Amino acid sequence: MESRILRVESLSYKIGSHWILRDVSFEVSRREFVGIIGPNGAGKTTLIKAIVGDLSDYSGKVSVSAKIGYLSQNPERKRDFPIRVKEVAAMGLYGERGILKPLRKCDWKKVEDLLERVGIYDLKERRAGTLSGGEYQRLMLARALASEPELLILDEPEAGVDEMGKSSFYRLLESLKNDKNMGILMVSHDIGMVFEACDTVMCINKTLHCHTSADKIRPEELQSAFSGDLDLFIRSRDHFEREHHL
Ligand SMILES: Nc1ncnc2c1ncn2[C@@H]1O[C@H](COP(=O)(O)OP(=O)(O)OP(=O)(O)O)[C@@H](O)[C@H]1O
Ligand SMILES: [Mg+2]
Repeated sequence: MESRILRVESLSYKIGSHWILRDVSFEVSRREFVGIIGPNGAGKTTLIKAIVGDLSDYSGKVSVSAKIGYLSQNPERKRDFPIRVKEVAAMGLYGERGILKPLRKCDWKKVEDLLERVGIYDLKERRAGTLSGGEYQRLMLARALASEPELLILDEPEAGVDEMGKSSFYRLLESLKNDKNMGILMVSHDIGMVFEACDTVMCINKTLHCHTSADKIRPEELQSAFSGDLDLFIRSRDHFEREHHL
């Protein structure tokens, strides 16, 4: 089986005369957990949109050879929509089952297992609109996982998730990566966690400033990408190293 599941070649995108992304190239393989970091406005979400097919008019080439599960940044919430938590998670199954086919018992079992794994099983009968921000984010992850993706793409999935939830969240991703042979591409501002959980780190600010294995990256390398935010980067990194006695 080919291990490469995503290839991005010379991706560039501009709005008017303003470059948003310039000449970005990289690959992702099965069982690779890639973290994308970079300051606000760096083009991370734009890059993800190009990969999932939500962006037109870019130049370069995106080749995907895997089934994608996608959790967008700030997913839209319809608070009044009368749909239960377990039904929202089950929507992830429709790709395989067809939206009009009733779900079988084993489908509901799968949904409940996922809700359990993301830590919101007890909320399964609740109306989705009543969930808190972090609970809703976990639900969105369960929905993305229900489609059994081979490449899971997450744009700031931990936003709003509490500290306890965050570490179990990353542990869950790691075990899914190993159990399901999945590739993961995750945008995050939680730099310490990215270094801890990811195999590979990509630092983006319009261009790809560095792309290397997480244990090889050095703060100096990121200077150009984070420019004014470098202090912040070093502080998070120091904090991370202190916490882990490196
Ligand atoms: N439709 C648009 N019109 C004008 N500018 C846009 C549009 N969409 C995105 N941009 C700009 O493109 C740049 C990249 O945006 P993008 O959402 O990719 O950043 P990001 O790296 O995901 O940032 P964040 O960390 O804040 O999520 C930003 O400066 C943004 O303002
Ligand atoms: Mg973004």
